[in-house]
Amino acid sequence: MKTTISEVHKYVGEEVTIGAWLANKRSSGKIAFLQLRDGTGFIQGVVVKNDIGEEKFANAKGLTQETSLYVTGTIVEDTRSPFGFEMQVKDLEVIHEATDFPITPKEHGTEFLMDNRHLWLRSKKQHAVMKIRNEIIRATYEFFNNNGYVKIDPPILTGTSAEGTTELFHTKYFDEDAYLSQSGQLYMEAAAMAFGKVFSFGPTFRAEKSKTRRHLIEFWMIEPEMAFMDHEDSLVVQENYVSFVVQSVLENCKLELGALDRDVSALEKVQAPFPRISYDKAIELLKEKGFDDIEWGEDFGAPHETAIAEAFDKPVFITNYPAEIKAFYMKPDPEREEVVLCADLIAPEGYGEIIGGSQRIDDLALMEERYEAHGLSGDAYKWYLELRQYGSVPHSGFGLGLERTVAWIAGVEHIRETIPFPRMLNRLYP
Ligand code: 4AD
Ligand code: MG
Repeated sequence: MKTTISEVHKYVGEEVTIGAWLANKRSSGKIAFLQLRDGTGFIQGVVVKNDIGEEKFANAKGLTQETSLYVTGTIVEDTRSPFGFEMQVKDLEVIHEATDFPITPKEHGTEFLMDNRHLWLRSKKQHAVMKIRNEIIRATYEFFNNNGYVKIDPPILTGTSAEGTTELFHTKYFDEDAYLSQSGQLYMEAAAMAFGKVFSFGPTFRAEKSKTRRHLIEFWMIEPEMAFMDHEDSLVVQENYVSFVVQSVLENCKLELGALDRDVSALEKVQAPFPRISYDKAIELLKEKGFDDIEWGEDFGAPHETAIAEAFDKPVFITNYPAEIKAFYMKPDPEREEVVLCADLIAPEGYGEIIGGSQRIDDLALMEERYEAHGLSGDAYKWYLELRQYGSVPHSGFGLGLERTVAWIAGVEHIRETIPFPRMLNRLYP
């Protein structure tokens, strides 16, 4: 019976064959322990000389790291391993012998690992991070599908900027200028006027010169947009969504969280509702915490976000930022024109901003005024302005950065390990 490691629990006491790679091994004169992986999981194969015979035992002992093979044996429960099962090997057949696999079980430097990202992905830690990423993606679709959202795909090649012009990736579109999408938001606003509640899930690109542990050049964003929802309504969607994702990972990725030594007690606390603190209060809090230089009107950097997050044990919304430091489309607070109806959601434990969202301006004249103030050309946005011309409604939306969310939930220090092939400043390989 051919199966995969993820399915062996169905075959306790039975003999099965698994296609696998040798991740690691250790052996003595009479017994060898093979750490096998097949992509679906990791299992230990135990090879006993007296059971398998001299020649096969010698073959097993001589296997090199990343050699591919078919292993046949009996599945037994193993209460000592976190996985819960092991295989008593009866036979093995080498498919392809690997020699000198560069990533050995010893420590390697970051640049070396990044150059070998195509091979590094096979390691247990990277495997766990990608499985958690996959669960976040799965739970995202489940949440929005269960709540009546339609998935809409905005374009990647666009004629305009959504978030500001400094970080645009330029390309030629035949004879025209085009840009890789920074955010699908403007198109999602059009979609919300057609489908009510929508979400997108796609790659976005920012030519940011920032070399930090939170910035990628290419990253994936989930962007819901909701007609007839104000800023407050949107915050409720956000906290419910993020709680759902975290609880799904806790439920479905126990092995992976264990492999990463993630402190799950911190994640267990992530249940809606989340605390909210205004930008004004955040400034006060920072001053109390010794950030004497920060002035009202300035944007927060990573150290500020970390300091604010430390005051809470759940993600925290910082609301109502000054209009000056936010995007052109955000709706001013009717009671205080200098701030906008927006919020950033800051993850706990120093992982920084994971969501940016706002209520959008729904008044045509005000939107036109904002274009001018931001030095944007209204012509390129003609279609966007028309959304305010035909049955304009209050609407809100937000964008969650997938990789920052993976970093936080998986407890990974640097964002480069949260995407299979990171695109970063000075790195386009592999
Ligand atoms: O706050 P941002 O720029 O918001 C927008 O783009 C809105 N148009 C979204 C919307 O309302 N539909 O980006 C949203 C999120 C950030 O909170 C962060 O998690 C992530 O995208 N993000 C990045 N992640 C990795 N690398 C970068 N360079 C990122 N820039 C933003
Ligand atoms: Mg932001």
